[in-house]
Amino acid sequence: PMPVIIDTDGGVDDALALIMALNSPQLDLKAITVLAGNIHVDQAANNVLRVLSIVAPNTLPIVAKGCEKPLVKSPFNAAGIHGADGLGELDQFKAADGTASYPQLTIEPSTENAIDVILSAAKEYGDHLNIIALGPLTNLATAIQKDAATMKQIGRIIIMGGAVTVPGNITAAAEFNFFVDPHAAQIVMESGIPLTLVGLDVAMKAPLTRQVVEENLQRRPTKVTQFIADCTGIYMAFYRDHEGFHGCYLHDPLAMAVAIDPSLVTTESLYMVVETEGRFSTGLSLADRRDRRDDKSHPPNVEACLDVDTKRFLKLFDKLVCS
Ligand code: BDR
Ligand code: CA
Repeated sequence: PMPVIIDTDGGVDDALALIMALNSPQLDLKAITVLAGNIHVDQAANNVLRVLSIVAPNTLPIVAKGCEKPLVKSPFNAAGIHGADGLGELDQFKAADGTASYPQLTIEPSTENAIDVILSAAKEYGDHLNIIALGPLTNLATAIQKDAATMKQIGRIIIMGGAVTVPGNITAAAEFNFFVDPHAAQIVMESGIPLTLVGLDVAMKAPLTRQVVEENLQRRPTKVTQFIADCTGIYMAFYRDHEGFHGCYLHDPLAMAVAIDPSLVTTESLYMVVETEGRFSTGLSLADRRDRRDDKSHPPNVEACLDVDTKRFLKLFDKLVCS
């Protein structure tokens, strides 16, 4: 299996992606590094530990906290989308006897810093290591700023962020992860590390409906299918109220799926940058799609996903998350 680090901001679709990784024989999860994004970094770490305690209580990997805020911008969270705790407000769920369905944990994250965890894994596994980035890119940009040579040795970063052809989600121009920390995203983009970008273009082609989640729970009532139904409630209600379908997009699970099976997507090698200063377009990911074959000044820096085999992806998701 491929050694991987998951870098995450602890939200609802991050949790689904984490479950995929834990159940995938293709991935050897070395550590989970956490940062601020959907929610404060402490709560994000707590959310990751909660997911682990439900899905994989006997194999707790390293969970290390990293950046508390973006490199330059002020923090901006998504509690309105993922719930006040970033994970569907799990404290609301009670068992028949009134006790909490998801009790508060007594375990703590590692005392190691996420940036050190990332750099020591880069040294240990070199080009075998893949990092799957499911939140803003602040931790990875900080690791690059600290030791670019070591980071350049890693195999690939698979990024959930940005988009090539569609507008944004959190603003008209920008996808959430790039909007939160555009400066970090641009540092990663120009790092020279092999990158795969899983953007909104492809993520929006693979929605998960409420109906599927509920049917799954009825068919296979387990602790995990119950957790999936519970943690996605608020998140799916957001899409019902704002986008007119009762379900959610599987942004982060799709990035995980691409790590597991790159043949699920078609990609194009592109030169991409991220807008850091825009008045209306902060966080916009801009792909140069002009035919500039004679211009060698800006060689492609990203393998950007343009399409996904939705049927195969949802089948993989179902196999790894719901069964
Ligand atoms: C991204 O933003 C976050 O809210 C999700 O977890 C995902 O990583 C989608 O734009
Ligand atoms: Ca995320």
